[in-house]
Amino acid sequence: MKPIRLGMIGGGNDAFIGGVHRIASRIDGRFQLVAGALSSTAEKSKASGAALGLAEDRCYGDFTEMAKREARLKDGVEAVAIVTPNHVHYPAAREFLKRGIHVICDKPLTSTLADAKKLVAAAEKSDALFVLTHNYTGYPMVRQAREMVRQGDIGNVRVVQVEYPQDWLTDPVEADGSKQAEWRTDPERSGAGGCVGDIGTHAYNLARFVTGLQLESLAADLTTFVEGRRLDDNVHVMLRFDGGAKGMLWSSQVAPGNENGLRLRVYGDKGGLEWAQEDPNYLWFTPFGEPKRLLTRNGAGATAGNQGASRIPPGHPEGYLEGFANIYNEAADLIVAARDGKMPDHLLPTVQDGLEGVAFIDACVRSSKRDAAWVKL
Ligand SMILES: NC(=O)c1ccc[n+]([C@@H]2O[C@H](COP(=O)([O-])OP(=O)(O)OC[C@H]3O[C@@H](n4cnc5c(N)ncnc54)[C@H](O)[C@@H]3O)[C@@H](O)[C@H]2O)c1
Repeated sequence: MKPIRLGMIGGGNDAFIGGVHRIASRIDGRFQLVAGALSSTAEKSKASGAALGLAEDRCYGDFTEMAKREARLKDGVEAVAIVTPNHVHYPAAREFLKRGIHVICDKPLTSTLADAKKLVAAAEKSDALFVLTHNYTGYPMVRQAREMVRQGDIGNVRVVQVEYPQDWLTDPVEADGSKQAEWRTDPERSGAGGCVGDIGTHAYNLARFVTGLQLESLAADLTTFVEGRRLDDNVHVMLRFDGGAKGMLWSSQVAPGNENGLRLRVYGDKGGLEWAQEDPNYLWFTPFGEPKRLLTRNGAGATAGNQGASRIPPGHPEGYLEGFANIYNEAADLIVAARDGKMPDHLLPTVQDGLEGVAFIDACVRSSKRDAAWVKL
């Protein structure tokens, strides 16, 4: 089968996640990048496209021009990856969705709750698919944890501890020319949440994906430790779930020594599960009263979800890129099925998950402004 023709918005020279999306889309050979509006100016956009070897007439000055022309081409893009700063997600996605072109968009869904709602409406109105790259849901051991919770291995969930600490914003690097830091600390481009939006949403989505619990209310304490910074760089959130489970979420970008320390611990009345993104091929299972068991990626005791998301035998490490590629591979399954009007069951994060993530940010900001009062999503 021919690869799916992919376009990209953002991900120009010097960008971070665009390159990851390009690698992830190629790992299983199911996509081919054929067009792009890769940067914020027409000149940089075209130079970035040329550097990637795209045809000159498929390197566009902006995403609107690209959407209009690609929709008219016989071999135009079938899907686009949106990998710009947050405030561009909605206007770019809208242009492609309204022309029936599938969208694979990075998180958080949008920079405002109003845009998130408009994007949900645009996705619902469109025949095209919308996939949100909460990439940690693609890891084999995360899939296994989800299945173990569902099959009752840890009993009724009581406690959810999730954290995502980093340290790269410990100093005011946004004032020293770090592009990535600059837009992430600008409320106009990032949204009302800083660290809570950038990585807190990953932690929240991971907890929701694994436990399936619905949030009832939260109390958040957002802090800006670095002087002059315009958005939070550390957040502590207490979580109350439907059914009585309790949780805590910590995300920080000012915790020296932490790189991408995403970690989830879930405890039920029969046992617990512990997973850490920096050691992603392993999952601790702690049945109460028994020795701890270390479960491995694609190893003995692997669930169907673990096996299905693994590419190579146990013991050879897989990680960030392969987990990301699982999202692309499953998006390709959906795109191929959609050609025949089908919509198979899937685990991919949706536009609704994206709306929930933005509602989580909004609730954290509202709560923190009221001295960490309990608020609903
Ligand atoms: N899933 C993940 O693990 C993960 C990791 C990092 C970033 N992200 C998300 O990916 C997005 C990009 O983050 P990044 O770190 O790569 O940022 P970045 O600053 O490195 O790259 C952003 C790119 O978008 C381009 N751009 C800006 N405005 C544009 C426009 N109007 N049209 C076309 N291109 C435009 C910039 O020129 C740049 O090339 C953000 O939404 C971020 O939250 C997700």
